[in-house]
Amino acid sequence: MDLLGGIIDVAFDVFFQKLHLRNLPALKDIGGPVDGCTCIVTGPTSGIGRETAAVLVRRNAHVVLACRSAERGEKLRKELYDEGVKEGRKPTLEVQLLDVASLESVRSFAKSWQQQERPLHMLINNAGIFSMGAERSMTEDGFEAHMGTNHLGPFLLTMLLLPNLRQTARKSNHGRPVRIVNVSSKMHELAPGFDTADPHFGKQGAYSSLAAYNRSKLAQILFTAELRRRLPGDCGMAAAAVHPGEVMTDVVRSLPGLMQSAYRFFMRPFCLTPAQGARSSIYCATSRDPILTERGQSMEADNCYFGAGCRCQSPSKHALDPVLGEWLWSWSADMVKLPAKYDIKAHLRS
Ligand SMILES: NC(=O)c1ccc[n+]([C@@H]2O[C@H](COP(=O)([O-])OP(=O)(O)OC[C@H]3O[C@@H](n4cnc5c(N)ncnc54)[C@H](OP(=O)(O)O)[C@@H]3O)[C@@H](O)[C@H]2O)c1
Repeated sequence: MDLLGGIIDVAFDVFFQKLHLRNLPALKDIGGPVDGCTCIVTGPTSGIGRETAAVLVRRNAHVVLACRSAERGEKLRKELYDEGVKEGRKPTLEVQLLDVASLESVRSFAKSWQQQERPLHMLINNAGIFSMGAERSMTEDGFEAHMGTNHLGPFLLTMLLLPNLRQTARKSNHGRPVRIVNVSSKMHELAPGFDTADPHFGKQGAYSSLAAYNRSKLAQILFTAELRRRLPGDCGMAAAAVHPGEVMTDVVRSLPGLMQSAYRFFMRPFCLTPAQGARSSIYCATSRDPILTERGQSMEADNCYFGAGCRCQSPSKHALDPVLGEWLWSWSADMVKLPAKYDIKAHLRS
């Protein structure tokens, strides 16, 4: 019944999202100012991430394009730079290599930030995969690929960059937001819980790309809620998970050519554009909505994620399970080789 309810909800969302969102402002009018802020956007080379990075650049933030291909990153940097110059701005942006599916790459990216004690106002964990229809595959660290790329890599990245975010929040004297945004999906509702005995779908017959994607997206929401619970109340930063909507991007790239074309043809009328899909990320990264920052003061704030309409909404009952959230936290720390009893408050003081 849970699953059926989830399927109906997701299908309803796909087919009626444009109607529901018809009065939502355009991306350029969402959220607040970010000039003077330093922002990391992972996976900026296509789709929602590209639009997220572009709008932050247009608002005069310093944007770090954290991508796994130097060539694609450089091409994007040049496009965004040229666009800014044409409009009379002088954009500041840089490309940094980051493969979120590799713990080594995540550690090396974070190490250079820590060593340089760079400020960080916004970490937007946008990079993600949905290997639709493909066989089970593993990351170099031995994680199921969706779990490794969509949750465990971003989990480690966030943990390692927390001190930089914290320092920035302490010094943020012109009231700029300090935020962590995890780009999840409404598809998490289709995850029938989390098989804690087999998180990487090793059991015979357990794997499907859809189930793996949904579980990784559930993990992102559980992680965000647990992070909100663990961050000290006065730390000056906030975390949020978002669903961008169903968006026409390259997310279907793993399908055979003909199926991709068919998907694009039939779904285009119902899907959002990448710029529309970037609205919830930009809202959570930049707006002054008190629900983002009122941690612990209302259950609503801690138990919500932001939908494509930039409104707080309730995730699945599994995503609200604090016992599962605590388990996921310890398990994730173990997977990425952080200390089992990772004390976030002590870590932030150091
Ligand atoms: N599109 C939707 O309808 C939808 C709905 C709900 C949630 N989402 C979520 O939105 C996020 C963005 O997806 P999208 O739709 O914009 O898809 P997309 O067009 O396929 O973009 C994905 C981005 O992630 C990057 N990426 C993938 N694996 C990476 C890795 N290991 N390391 C670093 N970067 C990596 C890709 O880089 P390359 O260019 O190098 O491949 C690309 O820039 C994802 O987390 C997705 O799950 C999308």
